[in-house]
Amino acid sequence: MTHASRCLLQTLALSWLAACVLVGCGAATDDASNSSRVYVIKFPHVTAPSTPKGQAANRFKELAEARFPGRVEVEVYPSSQLMNDDDSLEALAFGEIQMIAVSLSKFDRLTPKFQIFDLPFLFTDLAAVERFQGSPTGKLLLTELVDRGFLGLGFWHNGMKHFGGPHPMRQPEDAEGLKFRIMESDVLQAQILAIGGNPQKMPYGEVYHALQTGAIDAQENTWPNIYSTKFYEVQPYFTITNHGYVGYLVAVNPRFWESLPDDLRAGLEEIVAEVTVWTNSRAAAINADNLERIKASGRTEIVSLTSEELTAWRDAVQPVWELFADDIGREIIAAARSDDKR
Ligand code: LMR
Repeated sequence: MTHASRCLLQTLALSWLAACVLVGCGAATDDASNSSRVYVIKFPHVTAPSTPKGQAANRFKELAEARFPGRVEVEVYPSSQLMNDDDSLEALAFGEIQMIAVSLSKFDRLTPKFQIFDLPFLFTDLAAVERFQGSPTGKLLLTELVDRGFLGLGFWHNGMKHFGGPHPMRQPEDAEGLKFRIMESDVLQAQILAIGGNPQKMPYGEVYHALQTGAIDAQENTWPNIYSTKFYEVQPYFTITNHGYVGYLVAVNPRFWESLPDDLRAGLEEIVAEVTVWTNSRAAAINADNLERIKASGRTEIVSLTSEELTAWRDAVQPVWELFADDIGREIIAAARSDDKR
């Protein structure tokens, strides 16, 4: 099956499943009056337990089970153990799992608005992302997908992205002709095309092997992902660019969530809010620490750019903004740029 037809099938399946969530066909029913019931929250994700998301998921489990003993069990499945992100979007809408934290880039079949997070060089750092996510416009995005079967409870950061490749990439021209793995996002596809690369959408769990076998030459990701999945063992050069963001929509199935007893639902929402503050305040430090560990491994070379070189990358990808501005919404982009001093 071609990639395009697989995407089409997945889109159709998700639309159907979202309709099921709305009208209530097929999904499990939960009896809110049954206070002796143990609610099981299956929470699969794709990164290692040591990453910001891995740590946040485990903390959510710890706090939820400590505050509601015998009433809730959180089953966290890290490292794509249970399923990849595409499958988890379907499984959540279907009610087969109850919680996800999927990269915002991977929702682009469901809403163009989250593509704001993929616009290259829009956010200078995690603090800028956080200001936007905490703004009235940013907060509205949490409930953007309720009708499609995803109730957002928070945004969790991973980090800013950097490029890795088979040779030092100082100028956008150095990316020409390279096969870049990207997440499922049309903005990221346009970004790689803008620097002359050949974008390949691929699940996270397949990237290490694809780099090892030469199926792809290059990729972009955050230091915690590069470190924990050992991309630095199979990627001889990385360039510090901070050109994009990886962060997550922490979402639950709205029907499942509504079925919880009120006190449990309110308590779990409080815990997600606490974990969000906890993880987002540590993400930048984890990124800095993981970069140092990658350097210390001696397995790869880290390229730092001059401000002129960085400007060349920024200029090369700038046209991508205009390509997606109407889809995303110019007012959303304006809100994200409101504290931009450039
Ligand atoms: C990726 O696919 O590179 C990331 O979305 C993985 C993750 O969840 O951080």
